[in-house]
Amino acid sequence: MQITTPPIIHTERLLLRLVRREDLPALFDVNSNPAVTQFLPYPAWQTMDDANVWYERTLTRQETGAAWQFAIVLQQTGLALGTCLLFNFDPSSRRAETGYVLGQAHWSKGYASEAMRGLIAYAFDTLDLRRLEAQINPNNVASCALIERLGFAREGLLRERFFDNGGFCDSAFYGLLRELPPTPM
Ligand SMILES: CC(C)(COP(=O)(O)OP(=O)(O)OC[C@H]1O[C@@H](n2cnc3c(N)ncnc32)[C@H](O)[C@@H]1OP(=O)(O)O)[C@@H](O)C(=O)NCCC(=O)NCCS
Repeated sequence: MQITTPPIIHTERLLLRLVRREDLPALFDVNSNPAVTQFLPYPAWQTMDDANVWYERTLTRQETGAAWQFAIVLQQTGLALGTCLLFNFDPSSRRAETGYVLGQAHWSKGYASEAMRGLIAYAFDTLDLRRLEAQINPNNVASCALIERLGFAREGLLRERFFDNGGFCDSAFYGLLRELPPTPM
């Protein structure tokens, strides 16, 4: 598995590209809403300083190859509706973890499903990963529904694994395997 700088990923209505500083005002709208960050491991952003700190950390993680943070951009307007990422790469087992956030105004329009289908195709077809993982607070109904719609299997429940904005919470562990052709006998 070779992790190289990702290309722009196009889907029907969206494009996914690495986040840019110019996305921060739109991403502030997304992440300053406590309804969005309810199940996330960081509090809602209060000021643009929080956005800038997040962006600097994102750049560092990108430079070290620790994570790719994509803006989910609506093609029609160029607006960042949210983000999705690949992180916790394990090259020897060819797996990574994924996550996503959409602004509340953009929920229930199929954007997260569409973006994640594009990201999954990139992860399997271009990065040649063979397994993707996601960890979700089981109370996060919309996220569990999304990940299951994408074909991930719920593989277990890790008790009180995370601290999010609701306190300590369980983590439902999900996995998706790339569908590989059967190994020849
Ligand atoms: C998790 C999250 C991204 C899910 O977003 P979502 O909008 O529910 O997911 P989708 O984009 O796939 O949209 C699915 C909905 O759009 C509807 N839809 C409308 N047009 C559609 C289209 N063209 N294609 C597919 N679905 C469409 C679906 O019927 C479905 O409706 P429902 O919400 O009534 O079930 C969103 O709730 C979120 O950002 N939450 C806060 C952050 C968070 O918790 N992240 C996850 C941490 S683990």
